Amino acid sequence: MTAKIVVEGGAPLEGEVAISGAKNAVLPILCATLLADGPMTLRNVPHLHDVHTTARLLAELGARVGDGGPGVVTVDPTSVHSQVAPYELVKTMRASVLVLGPLLAKYGHAEVSLPGGCAIGSRPVDLHIRGLQSLGAEISVENGYIKARAPRLRGARHVFDFASVGATENVLMASVLAEGRTLLENAAMEPEIVDLAECLIAMGARIEGHGTGRIVVEGVPALRAAEHTVVADRIETGTFLVAAAMTGGRVTATHARPDTMDAVIDKLKEAGAELDCDGDRITLDMRGRRPRAVDITTAPHPGFPTDMQAQFMALNCIAEGVGVINETIFENRFMHVNELLRLGADIRVDGHTAVVRGVPKLSGAPVMATDLRASASLILAGLVASGETTIDRIYHLDRGYENIEGKLSALGARIRRIR
Ligand code: EPZ
Repeated sequence: MTAKIVVEGGAPLEGEVAISGAKNAVLPILCATLLADGPMTLRNVPHLHDVHTTARLLAELGARVGDGGPGVVTVDPTSVHSQVAPYELVKTMRASVLVLGPLLAKYGHAEVSLPGGCAIGSRPVDLHIRGLQSLGAEISVENGYIKARAPRLRGARHVFDFASVGATENVLMASVLAEGRTLLENAAMEPEIVDLAECLIAMGARIEGHGTGRIVVEGVPALRAAEHTVVADRIETGTFLVAAAMTGGRVTATHARPDTMDAVIDKLKEAGAELDCDGDRITLDMRGRRPRAVDITTAPHPGFPTDMQAQFMALNCIAEGVGVINETIFENRFMHVNELLRLGADIRVDGHTAVVRGVPKLSGAPVMATDLRASASLILAGLVASGETTIDRIYHLDRGYENIEGKLSALGARIRRIR
């Protein structure tokens, strides 16, 4: 029987929660360790299933991955002997495709299984491939594998059709060892890309403009070993702040990075929350009020993050008024709607738009997680639903949230995991 989480609604959340390192920063950064000429040390690494999967993939390639104590991972890539990322591992986590750029840049060839689709969409890698081809890679896709060769990558100007996070990361990691200058236009600007670039710069890469749509890289012959502390997870932070807003409570997120989440903070204020940002601490105080419904349109950073869409849908379910949600990034990221309807929500979906009419009360029921952020939205709904909500298939949750029920319990939530 798969593990489940049971939530009993009604308790306003109160207290402090320490934010972990960002999943979507540490995954590309783990892949970037392949570029180093010596052992890397990463700190503030979150304890997540996807981190273990990536560590297994690096070990499969021959790297020595070590546990340097709580939140510390060491990777020695000097023992890498394979440049093939097998289907068995890649099929469980799409981000595995991020070893393609580093392997190609370091070894001149790589074979990476095509990532399967996932619950939220087909998620092709055409933008990754086209970017690497701009740097001179010869790439073919056959038998479910991306086969790439490049005796020496050459710097080039590349304009991404879409500001894809993964494609920007893959091409950036390939460009740092390419010959000459690379100019990436219409690049993604997410804080996780900034963190990846900072790590690469600590390894000796020459990068400017990261965090803007125009990244300039001067290739270098080699990258040295370095240490890096992973940036705080802005999506975990946003998830806990939404939980505080929904339950009418007062929560302080510590070890956070408020400067990476303006759009989310603005939306929480629009929903009627009082927010105070002080260094690495963000305090949300709802003073027992019911949130007001907000309209959301997801967009590449600095726009509203698609990874916070499901959480704000949960907020709109119990808010005052009607909130319209437009999901523009993924083609199928409303899987949580049917489950929220089971809890008594009033949501109408028309293509990429969901119209959510706030109801005074949700009522607990058994529901099923379908993808990472959808499962978070079901927990949030369970925190305010009357009675018990049981969420099944919570392995989705463990991919991206470190000990979420422990952190929520510490804030007063009545939540437990059952086997
Ligand atoms: C990253 O995924 C994140 N994952 C996602 O977080 C996040 O939702 C997404 O960026 C957008 O912010 C990691 O960082 C590990 P994209 P990624 O390339 O890189 C299409 C979570 O919950 N596309 O910006 O896959 C794609 O199908 C996860 O933590 C192409 O068409 O996102 C999607 O519709 C979910 N061709 C859109 O672009 C390509 O070559 C956004 O994809 C690449 C992407």
